Amino acid sequence: MIAQLVKENRSCRRFYENHTVALKILQDLVDLARLSASGANLQPLKYILACQPQINAEIFSCLAWAAYLKDWPGPDPGERPAAYIVILGDTAISKDFGCDHGIAAQSILLGAREKGLAGCTLGSINRKALREILNIEAHLQIMLVLAIGKPKEKVVIETVGPDGSIRYWRDAESVHHVPKRVLNDIIVGSYAS
Ligand SMILES: Cc1cc2nc3c(=O)[nH]c(=O)nc-3n(C[C@H](O)[C@H](O)[C@H](O)COP(=O)(O)O)c2cc1C
Repeated sequence: MIAQLVKENRSCRRFYENHTVALKILQDLVDLARLSASGANLQPLKYILACQPQINAEIFSCLAWAAYLKDWPGPDPGERPAAYIVILGDTAISKDFGCDHGIAAQSILLGAREKGLAGCTLGSINRKALREILNIEAHLQIMLVLAIGKPKEKVVIETVGPDGSIRYWRDAESVHHVPKRVLNDIIVGSYAS
């Protein structure tokens, strides 16, 4: 089951925006992050949840989508995420968040996928603007934004070809293709008896 879930957990950038995502669902997803691994068990991550159209629109204005799709400025109105989870690092707890936010993001996105939702991790954020919009206190560092909603796009995994390109693309039917390196190229050492 986990293998299937991981395969299906593709970054999604177009959603049925009118399919609302309840605050309780976002809380349940953050609960998965809460139970995930944390370096030295410091648990320095904090979260802001949003599933309200006005604030969603303001968060959206701070995000950059799909840098490789040069002709696509991001999801149109009606296809934008219905919810966001902002992952923050509390510098009062730790100055270094290691990979905690990545683990938290994956837990949340897998949980969302299991619920029939999909999401996208966004690291390309206008952090200054987002901080002002959400009144984020200075000791909280903006790590990632997770966009969440009911998926409206098909995503297909491809194998990285001989040209080595890892750039995702969209075909004429608007299907999103995401190339992944083959296993043999990423396991650079194996020791077994
Ligand atoms: C740390 C991190 C930051 C990312 N930032 C962005 C972003 O700012 N905008 C975006 O559209 N996608 C972003 N992505 C999504 C990646 O583009 C996506 O994971 C990649 O294309 C592979 O697709 P997949 O998630 O379906 O495997 C980010 C992913 C990660 C893990």
